[in-house]
Amino acid sequence: MIRVAIDGPSGAGKSTVAKRIAKDLSIIYVDTGAMYRCIGLYVLRQGFDTKDAQAVTGCLAQIHMETSYDAQNGQRIFLNGEDVSEAIRTSEASMAASNVSAIPAVRAFLLELQQSMAKKQSLIMDGRDIGTVVIPDAELKIFLTASPESRAKRRYLEYIQKGQDVQYEDVLRDVILRDKQDTSRAAAPLRAADDALFLDTTYIDFEGTVSHIKSLIFHKMQQLGLSL
Ligand code: DC
Repeated sequence: MIRVAIDGPSGAGKSTVAKRIAKDLSIIYVDTGAMYRCIGLYVLRQGFDTKDAQAVTGCLAQIHMETSYDAQNGQRIFLNGEDVSEAIRTSEASMAASNVSAIPAVRAFLLELQQSMAKKQSLIMDGRDIGTVVIPDAELKIFLTASPESRAKRRYLEYIQKGQDVQYEDVLRDVILRDKQDTSRAAAPLRAADDALFLDTTYIDFEGTVSHIKSLIFHKMQQLGLSL
C-alpha cells in the first residue's frame, strides 16, 4: 500500500495530475478540495455568510457527501444525493470553500472522513494539509506549486471552457486572495510538510508533471519494498 499526499495552492494542477496518476495506477483519488467546496455550496444555498462560523457549524449535521467513479463520467461528488460535481466549480463556490475551510469545526468534520479513507487502501489525496495533518505518515508527499499568474491562467481557461463569463484579472485576484486566506488561517494552514518534495509546474507541462510524479512513486515503492 502506498499513500501519496499532494498539497499546494489552488490552480497548481494538483487535481488533474492526481486524477490521471490514480487512473494510470488504478488506485483511488481523493479530492479533498471538493469536500470543502460541497460544504461551501451548501452554506451558500442556505443563504448564510460562509465566514459565519456558528451558522456554518450548524449546517454540518445536515450535510451528507458521497463520491462515485465510473469510466464514462469519471469521478462525481454528491451532496445529499444531488450530483454537484459541476456546481462546486464556480468561482463563487471556490471562495465559499476557502471561507468555510478556515472554520475549525469544518476541518474536524472532514478530517475524520479523510483519515478513514486513507487507512484502507493505496491512494492519492490532494489538498492543502494532507502531508501535514491528514496523512502525516504518507509514504510520499509532494508540494505542487506554480506562479500565481500561471495558476490564474489555468483556472481562467477552465472557466472559459465551461462557458463561464469571467475576466482573467478577477481570477488572478481570487487566486491571490485564496492563497492569502489558505496560508494565513490558524487551522491547518496551507504549508509544505518538512519532508515534502517541491515541484514547481510553472514551466513544466501536464504530461511532464505526471511522468515526474509517477517516477517518484515508483522510486519510493522500490525503496520501501511496497506494492500498490
Ligand atoms: O483544491 P480546491 O481549490 O478545490 O480547494 C478549495 C478550497 O478548499 C481551498 O481554497 C482551500 C480549501 N481546502 C483546504 O483548506 N484543505 C484541503 N485539504 C483542501 C481544500
